[in-house]
Amino acid sequence: MTTQLAAPTATPNKKDITMQQPPITPTASQNIPFQHKPKILVVGATGFLGSKIQRQLEQDATIDLRAMSRRGAPAGSTASVEWVQGDLMDPASLDAALKGVDVVVSSANGYMKETIDADFQGNKNLIEAAARACVKRFVFLSIVACDAAPEVPHFHAKKVAEDLIKSSGLPYVFVRAPAFLDQSADYVADGVKAGRFYAVGDKTTKWSYVLTDDLAAAISKASTYPGEDITNQTIDIGWRDGAKNQSEIAELITQITGKPLSWWVVPWMVFSVMVRLIKPFSELGYDLIRMFLFFRTGRFVSDTTKQEHFFGPAPTARETITKWATTNKLTP
Ligand SMILES: NC(=O)c1ccc[n+]([C@@H]2O[C@H](COP(=O)([O-])OP(=O)(O)OC[C@H]3O[C@@H](n4cnc5c(N)ncnc54)[C@H](OP(=O)(O)O)[C@@H]3O)[C@@H](O)[C@H]2O)c1
Repeated sequence: MTTQLAAPTATPNKKDITMQQPPITPTASQNIPFQHKPKILVVGATGFLGSKIQRQLEQDATIDLRAMSRRGAPAGSTASVEWVQGDLMDPASLDAALKGVDVVVSSANGYMKETIDADFQGNKNLIEAAARACVKRFVFLSIVACDAAPEVPHFHAKKVAEDLIKSSGLPYVFVRAPAFLDQSADYVADGVKAGRFYAVGDKTTKWSYVLTDDLAAAISKASTYPGEDITNQTIDIGWRDGAKNQSEIAELITQITGKPLSWWVVPWMVFSVMVRLIKPFSELGYDLIRMFLFFRTGRFVSDTTKQEHFFGPAPTARETITKWATTNKLTP
């Protein structure tokens, strides 16, 4: 591969981000996975989910693991991971981080804690750097149905990044996540401890969930999967028994924990009114309300066919909630 993609010189309009150079066509050898011990770079490795991906891959003695953070190695890091300093907004730092890398895995994002620029321009920088480095696989953490929700900024950022990866010609695996059952601040577990179930919208609309340990396992498997049949697949993650409404989730929690729960529901009406008011004050608040209103459409649903094909049986809702309740010491 000889084509070089130019480093961007200015931040373009978020909606107009496209590759500025013609697509690169991978050579045949690029598509042959791993004739040596592969080097895997985890971008976003200090995050709530990213650190789980990093820890799962760290257990794999058949790979060399590199992890990226803007601050370099975090406290308590071990010698089995090579930490590099890199910033999605700094293409030169990405070139250095990607040197000698076979597989790049990214769960990095900025929209939750900082700025969504990392999700648009930062991902674009990473994709261009990965193309310059001729990586053999780009495992990108995306979101279920992101292509159906252009009105939700961080969903749209995932769709834009997916399109950029496709047009780069890099071999990819898109692992599309549904809603995390366990958020980094686990408001569901906190609510259950207080005898409450905090719900969004209504009791009947179904959407899909995942436990972040299970998602990290799927992403790790996608990174090390030995066959070429995973190349250029888009894989939804979810539960074997399908999407669930919040009544079903609450009922399972009560059955598993033995705790009766009182419902605290924020009705859809509140989101519909808030979405108009919040935009000038909070980019994140607007993004999250747009996301909840997308949930209301009933289209935030995983198809687990490919997940089960590549990664083995998906867990059921009951298995997952039992695991989550045990971890959170909610079981009797
Ligand atoms: N919450 C949900 O329900 C849900 C559902 C579906 C998908 N997701 C997706 O899941 C992922 C969440 O990951 P997480 O929990 O690990 O996120 P997190 O805890 O918010 O951590 C963010 C990570 O991104 C990195 N990062 C941010 N800006 C960066 C930049 N400019 N350069 C380099 N690194 C940067 C941070 O690294 P440093 O600060 O160390 O540099 C950190 O490792 C996101 O991609 C999100 O879209 C979430």
